[in-house]
Amino acid sequence: MSKTSQLPGFYKVTVAERRKLVAEATGASAAEIAAAVDGGGLDAETADKFVENVIGTYALPLGVTLNVRVNGHDRVVPMVVEEPSVVAAASNAAKMVRSGGGFVAEMDAPIMISQVQLVGVKDADAARTAILGAKDEILAAADKAVPGLVARGGGARGLEVRTLGEAADEMIVVHLLVDCRDAMGANLINSVAERVADRLAALAKGKVGLRILSNLCDTRCVRVTCRVPAAVLATETMDGDAVIDGIVNASRFAELDPYRAATHNKGIMNGIDAVVIATGNDWRAVEAGAHAFAARSGRYSPLSIWRRDGDTLVGRIELPLALGTVGGTLRVHPSARLALQILGITESSELAAVAASVGLASNLAAVRALATDGIQRGHMALHARSVALAAGARGGEVERVATIIVEARDITVENAKRALLVLRGDDGGERGVADDRASGASVAES
Ligand code: MEV
Repeated sequence: MSKTSQLPGFYKVTVAERRKLVAEATGASAAEIAAAVDGGGLDAETADKFVENVIGTYALPLGVTLNVRVNGHDRVVPMVVEEPSVVAAASNAAKMVRSGGGFVAEMDAPIMISQVQLVGVKDADAARTAILGAKDEILAAADKAVPGLVARGGGARGLEVRTLGEAADEMIVVHLLVDCRDAMGANLINSVAERVADRLAALAKGKVGLRILSNLCDTRCVRVTCRVPAAVLATETMDGDAVIDGIVNASRFAELDPYRAATHNKGIMNGIDAVVIATGNDWRAVEAGAHAFAARSGRYSPLSIWRRDGDTLVGRIELPLALGTVGGTLRVHPSARLALQILGITESSELAAVAASVGLASNLAAVRALATDGIQRGHMALHARSVALAAGARGGEVERVATIIVEARDITVENAKRALLVLRGDDGGERGVADDRASGASVAES
């Protein structure tokens, strides 16, 4: 746990100074931070052990979201993301939530679903009866496949037999429910499926089909709520009460329209994926689970909803989150281990609570911006820095060029190049950095 997640002025200081501030707030030393993240934290030789045909590594920015408080604990939250404004927006929204008491999270036990497909089953009812009758034997066999997990307090917890409707044609599916403790669990679950499949097929008088986990792990959900007082939601031009109305309308739009729900959920995943990646977890699994859960009613829906309660805005998010704090990438990726150290987290359920909270914060920031000034003002101001970089600005030039092109309301690489020439006194007398708005529009729109 962090001593505090509030670090005023953090964005104004240098990268080295930020490392010191994070060290003071979390107990990870600045030297440990440097060692774990410089060069992306992963050398090519280690990367070569991760995947195949390695030719190098690919770095992304690692930032920290501040002001986050979950279930009464402050957390400095590492985020890996390439999109400007995601980290700043989440920090800003977390500050608003904090003024209403912070995020309140509840997590299911870390139960994952192992699927065994059985085909050629002539009598599904008889198969169900036989399999359920052998439940204790099957669960014991499942435990034998994962002795280490059982020693850590996890293991098989339940068994379900599912039929898949008329079209299934002699096919049934058995779900084994397995408590994975602090592991994400994919390998454990797959081992369990492979261990018990033959016996299940024999009981069902059928043949074994697929044996694999389900990424729709709706037995491993996290639910987070937050309450935000109207006063802190106000902008320069709208009072807090009107902002609440705007955010509730944005929520209802997403509840009614899958086209909007997809974008609403993308804003949530901006926060969640960034934490998932920073902590060395499988973001494709998280994405697959989140969107399948969003469509569970048969209609694609938002993962969060926002409502008014008097002069308070109330937000709620629910989604499956299979995250690990042990095993997998975490064993070998120094930056992922550092991320958990900065968070002060050892349990997977706590990590899920923080990731979902940051998802709700990202969502709040997005819908508040959309319901007030629009998203482009803040977004493009931050985007201007990467445009300045793309134009060739370096060091102190980046901020100066970004300021010039934002003030000129022409955030394009072309304009940034002109600003850079002027700054370097190398413009051949040309001073009109704001004039040519036609060129480079694609950058501003990207
Ligand atoms: C952009 O990365 C995310 C948003 O589109 C989310 C939303 O529209 O709610 C701003």
